[in-house]
Amino acid sequence: MSQRFSRRTGWDLRESNFAETIRRARSEGRELLDLTVSNPTVCRFIYDAEAILAPLSDRRALTYDPNSRGMLSARESVAGYYADHGASVDPDSLILTTSTSEGYGYLFRLLCDAGDEILIAQPSYPLFEFLADLEDVRLRPYPLFYDHGWWIDFAELEREIGPKTRAIVVVHPNNPTGHGTGLEERRRLEEVCVRHGLALIVDEVFLDYPLQKHHLRSFAEGPHPVLTFVLSGMSKIAGLPQMKVGWIAVAGEDQSRLAALSRLEMIADTFLSMNAPAQIALPQWLANRFGLQKQILERTAANLREITASGLDVLKTDAGWSAVLRLPRIGITPEDLMLREGIIVHPGAFYGMPEIERVVVSLIVPPEVLARGVRSIAEFMLSF
Ligand SMILES: Cc1ncc(COP(=O)(O)O)c(C=O)c1O
Repeated sequence: MSQRFSRRTGWDLRESNFAETIRRARSEGRELLDLTVSNPTVCRFIYDAEAILAPLSDRRALTYDPNSRGMLSARESVAGYYADHGASVDPDSLILTTSTSEGYGYLFRLLCDAGDEILIAQPSYPLFEFLADLEDVRLRPYPLFYDHGWWIDFAELEREIGPKTRAIVVVHPNNPTGHGTGLEERRRLEEVCVRHGLALIVDEVFLDYPLQKHHLRSFAEGPHPVLTFVLSGMSKIAGLPQMKVGWIAVAGEDQSRLAALSRLEMIADTFLSMNAPAQIALPQWLANRFGLQKQILERTAANLREITASGLDVLKTDAGWSAVLRLPRIGITPEDLMLREGIIVHPGAFYGMPEIERVVVSLIVPPEVLARGVRSIAEFMLSF
């Protein structure tokens, strides 16, 4: 008899047609312009190797002295990060995790029984489906709509709330739309959560990357009329996804905040997944974040200008590392672009955008690659 596996891992793991086409083109030696690269460590930024690696050899890491919320000195440095954003966060209200993704896993376990539901914006980052499957949680999408900028469709959001709904996830700013949740939208979200007894989960990994003049405000800033979990981490803040450090900041009225924290502490204690060297290094990585952030901010702004200058239509974005392009409606798919021009873009469908003319590009790809890519797309479109 063959081994049976859990239904929750019964994913369709076959390679998509698009991925297969790309792989085949690469194996034939075809040079491709990849406009989707979003791994900052391969995008030709200058990292201060000494400042990043030296703290990893601190001798304090030789002693195992686990703290289930994470090392206090590391949590204090995260509180300092929020203080820089004008938000007062108690280090004891923080739980360190190995990534934002692990933070989501903890929160889904904390808030949901099997079959419970979490509301999530659409379009958004596709990772959530797997995270939810692993915790037996069901995701219900609520739409963002585009009208000279992205907005939450509150009428639809409320229609999605049912007896099994436990929380609303807001990605602020959102990936890939770059939609930042304004104060009025935050107030309305909190009002909906209060009325339905829901928690708010806010993913702020791209908070430090505004593309417009105004800076985005962190949900860690009070007041907090609902139980609020703010997620972030080193992947984007310091461009160090390989260092595997993230966190959850818990806010809200004392009773539910403290209950949530003690349960989260127990979840974290079960795994104790944080390693000592990274926690010891965290204060220095955070202190040094501005050098890399400046390079990324200059790159994302310049790449966005380049896209606009190429004549392509780009949807309005507040912040982040990606841009949604609206190609002319002539039925050209990302697969056509790859096969005919050797340019890789993400289909909008990858993020839950059904419109085939919408494609997503990363704004952190090296500028000469982006410039060549978008100019070729623009010329290709004009040839029809
Ligand atoms: C919105 C969003 N949240 C979370 C993550 C994952 O971050 P981490 O590396 O901390 O798990 C990503 C990765 O791109 C992301 O786009």
